[in-house]
Amino acid sequence: MPSGKSDVKHFSYKVVPALVMFCFCATTALAALKVVGTGNETRFDPAEIPVNKRQSFQLMESRCTSCHSSERLVIAIQSGIAPITGQPFDATSAKVFVKKIASKPDSNINEVEMKEILDILNFLLIKQSASKQP
Ligand code: HEC
Repeated sequence: MPSGKSDVKHFSYKVVPALVMFCFCATTALAALKVVGTGNETRFDPAEIPVNKRQSFQLMESRCTSCHSSERLVIAIQSGIAPITGQPFDATSAKVFVKKIASKPDSNINEVEMKEILDILNFLLIKQSASKQP
């Protein structure tokens, strides 16, 4: 049917770009990282984490809060500054830092987990910096 074909064409030329624009804007608007809890208990809102990254997020939370509060992670990622030493906290320094922590036997972080933790930290850092764009 010729008319059916042109309907499909109309959909792809007009509606699809509109949908793409909508998704782009919606993603940008949702980019700010929300937190839940207060004080020492402050943590990233798990609802902010895509379903396919939730497991890594939980792993990071369980490993990285065994010695100190989750608030420390939130401050480091939100401010881009490691709160104790005042050093920059970005993808590069996070890698060095997590490697150092993972090398401590009492951190209980193995090689595979270290990569998974770095992956989710980078995701959070990117999401955080995206939320600062005007
Ligand atoms: C074995 C215990 C331990 C584990 C596990 C641990 N940390 Fe720490 N972390 C520390 C100690 C000790 C400090 C130094 C400051 C202090 O004395 O509290 C610190 C400091 C930090 C700082 C501030 C660093 C600075 O230079 O200001 C950040 C950010 C941080 N940790 C994030 C993490 C992340 C992310 C993880 C998970 C990969 C993690 N920590 C796991 C013990 C730990």
